[in-house]
Amino acid sequence: MSINESSTTTTNNTIVLITGGNTGIGLAIAHALLSAPIEPYSIIVTSRSIERATAAIKGLYNDPTFKDAFSSGSEALPMQLDVDDDESVKAVRQRIGEKFGRVDVLVNNAGTSLADLTTVP
Ligand SMILES: NC(=O)c1ccc[n+]([C@@H]2O[C@H](COP(=O)([O-])OP(=O)(O)OC[C@H]3O[C@@H](n4cnc5c(N)ncnc54)[C@H](OP(=O)(O)O)[C@@H]3O)[C@@H](O)[C@H]2O)c1
Repeated sequence: MSINESSTTTTNNTIVLITGGNTGIGLAIAHALLSAPIEPYSIIVTSRSIERATAAIKGLYNDPTFKDAFSSGSEALPMQLDVDDDESVKAVRQRIGEKFGRVDVLVNNAGTSLADLTTVP
């Protein structure tokens, strides 16, 4: 189980960052990638709470549906991220830079709201 984000990794996996990936559409995207992997992925699942992100990751590793993906080299790991907090964004950028050196795919899922559109005169 690769939920330790502290070590440096050299990988040819496609690095996927899913903001707000611990539930809803973000988590469904992680499920889709792991259900029919075209290639091995390193999927970073974020939440404002590291506990919620870690719980989501444990759910992925405990789901037999994704066993083949993980045994074929895919991995998933949690990170704390609040997209409304510049310091949090900088910290995640630094952690991913140190661990992977890049992001290949950004799923910019968190922090979008249509609420303001309903108040436009
Ligand atoms: N569902 C729809 O029909 C629909 C329609 C149009 C657009 N969208 C948009 O699609 C995205 C996902 O929708 P959803 O239905 O899957 O929403 P959701 O179930 O409420 O999930 C939102 C995710 O974003 C995280 N999150 C919330 N605020 C955050 C912040 N400031 N920084 C980082 N992460 C944050 C939440 O995790 P934590 O709370 O643990 O941080 C959660 O993982 C949203 O941006 C939504 O506006 C959804």
